Amino acid sequence: MAQTSFELKAQDGQARTGVISTPRGDIRTPAFMPVGTAATVKGMMPESVRATGADILLGNTYHLMLRPGAERIDRLGGLHKFMNWDRPILTDSGGFQVMSLSDLRKLTEEGVTFKSHYDGSKHHLTPERSMEVQKLLGSDIVMAFDECPALPADRDRIAQSMRLSMRWAQRSRDAFGDRPGHMLFGIMQGGLESDLREESAKALTDIGFDGYAVGGLAVGEGQDAMFGCLDYAPGFLPEDKPRYLMGVGKPDDIVGAVKRGIDMMDCVLPSRSGRTGQAWTRRGQINIKNARHADDPRPIDEHCTCPACSSYSRAYLHHVFRSHEMISGMLLTWHNLHYFQEIMQGMRDAISEGRFDAWEADFHALRAEGDI
Ligand code: GUN
Ligand code: ZN
Repeated sequence: MAQTSFELKAQDGQARTGVISTPRGDIRTPAFMPVGTAATVKGMMPESVRATGADILLGNTYHLMLRPGAERIDRLGGLHKFMNWDRPILTDSGGFQVMSLSDLRKLTEEGVTFKSHYDGSKHHLTPERSMEVQKLLGSDIVMAFDECPALPADRDRIAQSMRLSMRWAQRSRDAFGDRPGHMLFGIMQGGLESDLREESAKALTDIGFDGYAVGGLAVGEGQDAMFGCLDYAPGFLPEDKPRYLMGVGKPDDIVGAVKRGIDMMDCVLPSRSGRTGQAWTRRGQINIKNARHADDPRPIDEHCTCPACSSYSRAYLHHVFRSHEMISGMLLTWHNLHYFQEIMQGMRDAISEGRFDAWEADFHALRAEGDI
């Protein structure tokens, strides 16, 4: 018994809906994964995150290995128990965060040496250590250790980096071993070059993974270029395995990615922008700190059933934001996560019923109307 599986239930155009089953529960796809970098989705109790409709959270190897430390989390019973979330957790492997967050990085064939952005302490991360850390955390979906060059980068640099990531993918696979109940995903690289994406997909499928991520996108290339890549990249991957687009995105990015065959996504956007006063709605975005909300008795969105919209006015949310009250970030984060999960549920239903195009047209039409 593998104890994990992916069942595709329906497809409409390239858009797919299905279920990833794990011993910790099912993940309905397309799935949006809220980000819980430091063992918390900032400002949300885990039961509240669940109440928004999330089936799975994302955690970060890089942050947790530095603070509080993977061995400590293991001694305390693992990440699920530590943060009080008993459903599936996917962990990113650390390489991408080292390159974007740490100081004094040194990249070799073996791995990467870097200084912590918290305290300057020196650390080493390799495919083998990343697999060990993700095992200590107790992650349900483990990501292969990869590297992603900052864009713009020339083709040679992108090709070299992709091939290094593919050698690291093999080492990740070997180090992960056989762990029933846990899945290992490979990460495709190759920038915006279709032949490099194809080469990367071939290398990963030859190794064999439980799922496949599209990495190296949403790194400043813009939506048109990202969609251009997603027009072909998912097609290089096996149909019967989940496809995960890393670090995406805004609501229209998410919808466009699902339309092109993506099954899973994660992004800090709903939680991070909630803390800076941004609310995402079916009609677009509002910034609650704007003076025009100061006397507005209406909720953020009268059709939204989240706690922020059920019980609080824009005027109140404006006031607590201006007053730097903690409840401001809590309520806006809840609203944003609720809205993102509502998009996912809407797409799952539409794909099941073969009306994704109509759903997508409504999604864009309502946003174009604006008037929020
Ligand atoms: N998060 C966003 N993009 C990436 C990527 O290319 N690799 C990894 N590991 N994480 C990511
Ligand atoms: Zn709401």
